[in-house]
Amino acid sequence: MTAVTTTHPETFRPALHYTARNTWLNDPNGLIHHQGLYHLYYQNNPFGNTWGNMSWGHATSDNLVDWTEQAVAIACDEQEDIFSGSIVFDSQNSSGFGTETTPPLVAIYTSAYKEASPLHGGQAQSLAYSLDGGFTWEKYAGNPVLTRNSANFRDPKVFRYDGRAGSYWVMAAVEAHDYKVVLYKSEDLKTWEHLSDFGPANATGGIWECPDLFALPVDGNPLELKWVLTVNLNPGGPNGGSAGQYFTGDFDGVQFTSDSTITSGEQDPDRLQEYDWLDWGRDYYAAVSFSDAPDGRRIMIGWMNNWDYANQIPTSPWRSPMSLPRELSLATVDGRTRLVQNVVEEAVGRDEAPEVQGAPLHLSGETRPIPAATGTVQVIEAEFTAGTAEEFGLIVRGNGTEGTRIGINPAQGRLILDRTASGDTGFHDGFSSVDTAPINARDGRYQLKIYLDHCSVEVFAQNGELVLTDLIFPEKTSTGVSIYAHGGSATLESLTITPLA
Ligand code: FRU
Repeated sequence: MTAVTTTHPETFRPALHYTARNTWLNDPNGLIHHQGLYHLYYQNNPFGNTWGNMSWGHATSDNLVDWTEQAVAIACDEQEDIFSGSIVFDSQNSSGFGTETTPPLVAIYTSAYKEASPLHGGQAQSLAYSLDGGFTWEKYAGNPVLTRNSANFRDPKVFRYDGRAGSYWVMAAVEAHDYKVVLYKSEDLKTWEHLSDFGPANATGGIWECPDLFALPVDGNPLELKWVLTVNLNPGGPNGGSAGQYFTGDFDGVQFTSDSTITSGEQDPDRLQEYDWLDWGRDYYAAVSFSDAPDGRRIMIGWMNNWDYANQIPTSPWRSPMSLPRELSLATVDGRTRLVQNVVEEAVGRDEAPEVQGAPLHLSGETRPIPAATGTVQVIEAEFTAGTAEEFGLIVRGNGTEGTRIGINPAQGRLILDRTASGDTGFHDGFSSVDTAPINARDGRYQLKIYLDHCSVEVFAQNGELVLTDLIFPEKTSTGVSIYAHGGSATLESLTITPLA
């Protein structure tokens, strides 16, 4: 076990975000809803709290918020690490791993071959199956099932395609260093046939990892479906390091064609502002969605960390939280289809009723504490209209000396998340940052929904069109919330605080 010392052992353990009890985690894997339970598997080091010994950890929940850690699901061995992948419910027993009456769950994961393996250095796709609803897993004796003689072929996301082209399993995986999503099809999950490739496209400032591909109705119209391809890249995000981008378009059963590709393979930093990002913050990576979520919901979870400093964040004995689960939809905004994300309703307002604060409130060149809004685990909904102020917004997790600034600069059209004075930032040179994203007023208003937990800020702006997620490591006693308008005036039109823990 890697010993990591920290001055504040449990201060930062989130109340609402999943963390492993006393080990390391990264990417969510094999997200699936099955027999009434949400299963969250994840990249896990069962023996320490830094990256290594990659295995699939496991947690379950019946409500997406209260998670129970289970035994390690698929463990690394002498020959291979178990890298990221997905799980499907093989209801027709197409793989033959189960029976008609006990159809299997099948995990499709990346075998990252180690020194002791004859395939050393390679990455290929392998299977494991479970006949007890996802608690114990057997590796398939015929592994791997798909190789490309590649060292960077990984992160298979498998789903059932049912459409004009037929009915079969589809796998989206990456050739990470070629900035390509590679698509395959299969009848039985064991034999795979290449369909097509997508990429390079839009952001290619880092390797491509952890893709996902799914359809969603546009503006809630079930007759108008669009496909969304998400792909994570590291580094090369809009504010540095790890991030995820998405493309909208069509998948005809063979090929994904994008209607949102701006340019291919260009790395002009200004271009990064034009691409579609799952999250503009520093700490939302490797996001993938659940298979078989009830009622056609598309629910996504990301790893709330950044490879720039992931192994150094000052927490112990655990390291890295998951994001809150987000429900996705598509909406037409200014003539374009945009992904809209909101925290699942299960996470909000379970314990306490919202407290509505006094508003509207006119601010002019001032910072004003809101004593009634004090707290560490809560959701803050604020709506502003701009006046003459250069910048306005809120300071959260404040104590007079430290605080995290969430602001809007209307002239520049920027949403700002400043964590330079958020608390402990000294554990890594790359952590302290001011992260920004483009924002426009909607009907003259700026709407923010901010989820605070012990070590994170997730800002959903303009009803979820724009998200900025950052880790922060404040003092436990930094509970203050203030609002401000600098260099002029602004109006806080409404403010609602809902305690969450
Ligand atoms: C993304 C990633 C994946 C890989 C896994 C290894 O964070 O690098 O591409 O499968 O982590 O832990």
